[in-house]
Amino acid sequence: MDQTPESGVLSNEEGRVQTLLGLEKEICACMLCRLCDGRICAVPGEGSFSPQIVFVGEGPGAQEDRLGRPFVGRSGRFLDGMIDGIGLRREDVFITNVVKCRPPDNRDPRPDEIAACRDYLDRQIELLAPRVVVTLGRFSMERWFPGERITRIHGQVKEIGSGRVALAMYHPAAALRNPQWRNAFAADMQKLPGLLMSQ
Ligand code: URA
Repeated sequence: MDQTPESGVLSNEEGRVQTLLGLEKEICACMLCRLCDGRICAVPGEGSFSPQIVFVGEGPGAQEDRLGRPFVGRSGRFLDGMIDGIGLRREDVFITNVVKCRPPDNRDPRPDEIAACRDYLDRQIELLAPRVVVTLGRFSMERWFPGERITRIHGQVKEIGSGRVALAMYHPAAALRNPQWRNAFAADMQKLPGLLMSQ
């Protein structure tokens, strides 16, 4: 079949990228839960569309809401530094959140808000097809390690299907608050190069 751009027929890869871009638009227009009422920008996520690693945080904060980009504040700079530390750049990975709109007053996302956003996250993971999903904090952990405690299972790796694994890590903001968790965050991060090689 003729798959030149002029032919109007998309290759699988072009189709995947178009679907990811369409999903971003869908998220930015989403009205599935109350969080859309207070947002300036939805934050679908950003980074490589062919990442080996997808980082999943909790939800946008004030700066993320203003800019429409994930992890742009202090936690983001910390995360960027940690990504650098394993020889990658922020642009090499994909960074997103469990909920795509900012919970007001930095409160925790509620179960129905997480449920409303879940299909977006699942579709992103499916389309991005990373080798490793890194959960940052307990809300993201709950998606792949339900009923667990972050203090107990951070650093653990679990097969989640399609040749993919999840690695549970503390949230960068928690790591910034607590030196012990910061050390654990750095140690857990060091597992990533080995995980990428072993798959
Ligand atoms: N915290 C998160 O969990 N996500 C962001 O995007 C920013 C801060």
